[in-house]
Amino acid sequence: MATPKFTIEERLAKAKAILKQADQSQVLNYWDQLSDDQKKQILGQIESVDWVEVTRLVQSHVLNTPEFIAPKSIEPAPYLPRIPSKNLADKYKQAKKAGEKLLRDGKVAAFTVAGGQGTRLGWNGPKGSYPATAIRKIPLFCCFAEFIRKAEQKFGTTIPWYIMTSPINDAATRAFFEEHGNFGLRADHIMIFPQGMMPAFDSKTGKALLESPDTLAMAPNGHGGSLKALYTSGAIADMKQRGIEQISYVQVDNPLVKVIDPLFIGLHAKSQAGMSSKALPKAYAQEKVGVFCKVNDKVSVIEYSNMPDELSEMRDEAGELVYKGGSIAIHVMATDFVEKINTQEGGFALPYNRANKKVAYWDHKNNATVTPQTANAVKLETFVFDALPLCQESVILETDRIEEFSPIKNADEPGALDCPATCKQGQTDRAARWLETKNVKIPRKADGSVDAIIELSHLKAIDPEDLDDMDLPAAIDAGTEVLI
Ligand code: UTP
Repeated sequence: MATPKFTIEERLAKAKAILKQADQSQVLNYWDQLSDDQKKQILGQIESVDWVEVTRLVQSHVLNTPEFIAPKSIEPAPYLPRIPSKNLADKYKQAKKAGEKLLRDGKVAAFTVAGGQGTRLGWNGPKGSYPATAIRKIPLFCCFAEFIRKAEQKFGTTIPWYIMTSPINDAATRAFFEEHGNFGLRADHIMIFPQGMMPAFDSKTGKALLESPDTLAMAPNGHGGSLKALYTSGAIADMKQRGIEQISYVQVDNPLVKVIDPLFIGLHAKSQAGMSSKALPKAYAQEKVGVFCKVNDKVSVIEYSNMPDELSEMRDEAGELVYKGGSIAIHVMATDFVEKINTQEGGFALPYNRANKKVAYWDHKNNATVTPQTANAVKLETFVFDALPLCQESVILETDRIEEFSPIKNADEPGALDCPATCKQGQTDRAARWLETKNVKIPRKADGSVDAIIELSHLKAIDPEDLDDMDLPAAIDAGTEVLI
């Protein structure tokens, strides 16, 4: 970090030496043309990067593509079913009670990672500001806030909310919260903090790209960066002070996610797990999701691209996929676990992954920033699920798509998946499922899909049981929009 006690000349000398050693001296190509403020800006960026690590990663991940070596000992990771069998019913009942008690005792925090750049969606602003719901079009952040408000009311508790941004969208996120009065939550129960960044590299040369003469092209270091950022930001210390024992981790792009799920939290806590996950059964063998496996007896997620085909395709006697549990980035982490991996001797490091992306760069000839049409750069990211093998115990609970997975990743276009249109349908499908359990008649088309648009506000229900005390319509009319 910038150390004001050094003069600009001293900082420059140090930066030059480090960059030379890393073979990245081009970063200072425009030094002589910069104003004092611009000099400070680029020095600050240079000083925030671990150039020794960068040198290693450029060789292994930019100039080369790291080879995945399939582990020798690998088996499918078992998961608990969404609907408990008879002999699990009591375990689930007790776990739900335990989760609810943790909530009532104020020992659970919500954590949303929102540091991504959302390039596929192409929304101009933090993804959390995207108008996501089917009828009211409330932003993703508001959707989560309403969930938290309902959970606080239901369990008579306070659920502090931690939000990870990146230096790119931190100010805009804070402004968005302020503009919307923190969506009805108390400001002192919300903590927003930025994650770490990594330079982006020219994929052909391995050189760190400049976005402009005084600015390195930097990108957030992946959602795995949350495990360090939680600690370095002081969020873990804040949680400890509040008595928070469990952190419910969700990603900003999925408005159906149960921001707080007492059953999941209880199953995790009762197993004294460090980090637990929800799994979505794969719809077909080659579905592009990471798969829960056990590697050397530790729960791990193997990316679909690294799964050997014979494992992805393997079926049991009943014809079911053997490696079936897909990772959808819903976790609970023990505060102690996150603290421990950050404070243990030698620290911890999650593996980096290479992503080929379009990154705007400074074109010296035209004196302008150019946004390329095709991928020109490598971004390096860590993944949160790579922390799973660091813990002793880890629970996996099954969920299903209708219940809690309809992310907004892509822009709407014909045939697009995981986009605003599919999410709107997903919200309707879940609302219909919940309402049907309370005998509300749902209009359906010949193919079984819901013939209406339904938005069920989280302020009203975060679980079907919340509908019990409500005045519900007997039926929903075909072709209508219904907000409940
Ligand atoms: P994605 O992997 O979908 O990436 O993030 P993204 O950056 O949002 O979108 P694209 O790939 O540019 O289109 C999944 C979740 O992880 C968060 C995102 O904000 C989202 O909630 N994330 C991702 C971070 O918090 N930091 C990161 O560095 C990357």
